[in-house]
Amino acid sequence: MMRTLRSVLRLRPIEFDATARRLSKAASVADLRRIARRRLPRGVFDYIDGGAEDEVSLGRNVAGFSRLEFRPRVLRDVGAVDTSTTLLGRHLAFPLVLAPTGFTRIADPQGELSVARAGARAGIPYALSTLSTRSIEEVRAVSDGRLWFQVYTWRDRGLVEEMVNRAAAAGYEAIVLTVDTAVLGRRERDVRRGFTLPPKIGPGTIVDGLVHPGWTWGFVRAEPIAFSNVTGKSVGDGTDAISLAQYVNDQFDPSLSWRDVEWLRSVWHGPIVLKGIQTVEDARLSVEHGVEAIALSNHGGRQLDGAPSMIELLPDVAAAVSGETEIILDGGVRRGSDIVKALSLGADAAMAGRAYLYGLGAGGEVGVDHVLGLLATDVRRVMALIGAGSVGELSPELVRRRDA
Ligand code: GLV
Repeated sequence: MMRTLRSVLRLRPIEFDATARRLSKAASVADLRRIARRRLPRGVFDYIDGGAEDEVSLGRNVAGFSRLEFRPRVLRDVGAVDTSTTLLGRHLAFPLVLAPTGFTRIADPQGELSVARAGARAGIPYALSTLSTRSIEEVRAVSDGRLWFQVYTWRDRGLVEEMVNRAAAAGYEAIVLTVDTAVLGRRERDVRRGFTLPPKIGPGTIVDGLVHPGWTWGFVRAEPIAFSNVTGKSVGDGTDAISLAQYVNDQFDPSLSWRDVEWLRSVWHGPIVLKGIQTVEDARLSVEHGVEAIALSNHGGRQLDGAPSMIELLPDVAAAVSGETEIILDGGVRRGSDIVKALSLGADAAMAGRAYLYGLGAGGEVGVDHVLGLLATDVRRVMALIGAGSVGELSPELVRRRDA
């Protein structure tokens, strides 16, 4: 009797570490999102999770992937799947770049340091945001991995040039110029909540703080959050609570144009990635301006609502510019199968922001490791299941649109 009972009863070993316990139950990015939603104050979660206006573009980025199905090939000997590839001429353990995200320390006090360390461990590049809450140099100090630096064009170009020079001095390998943010999109969740950066801990948020004690304790104990790259500059370093829309619309230059790409080329001598390309025409112009890579991106649906789904745009862009510039697919990436679909349709790599922020909010740095582990093993498994032994074997014949 006892023997029978023992043979059917397999108790999991008890996990005493609360974070490990939480993460052990997260089988997907969607699970991590649910955990992050529980742990983060609502305003913080909504800033990360939300998109512009009706969030149509946000939804379409994700839905575009589910409209695609695989055409799996079998009997192809997938005994040794190799997920590695190259991007900007350098090695990538699997085809993903960690997207620049502003104000990362609102998800966890370590913020960008955690993301950089996790990216280096996973063997993939991290693009640090110009609106980061750890500086170019602080992030480099904790990571010997591949780092890119993302810039917006402040009205004060001297400031941009100074940051680009700092990135060069710190050994960042590429500059990502975000071109979809002439003005800030209207994120209505933030408007409704009166959300500011940094989040205000005042009478209005005390209750929220009490129901999210882990986050609140970390936030009030850590040094104050600020835009670390512009500390002490006249542009405002984010130490006073501001609405992001007001800051961006005051400080960023809406006259940004192709001339600025040429200007960037004159002050930066490494690869340039244009992030925020959303049409075939602009992809072509990027090639004409000689940029090394483009990131097809609608800023995670946070800028123009009604922008196209990036995965749906990809085949036309790949047909137009493949081989002339590298293509990174950003927007809606929540699973390894999304990454595999993007590469099959002509991307050289995918890019994701929210996916790792959910991990960071759910479990700090080990939460980011957890996400990257999930995505890397997903990619390997999906490649095996569709009969692709290497990234070079991913091709459009492996995917089709369900409604086509
Ligand atoms: C910043 O770039 C944001 O999208 O909030």
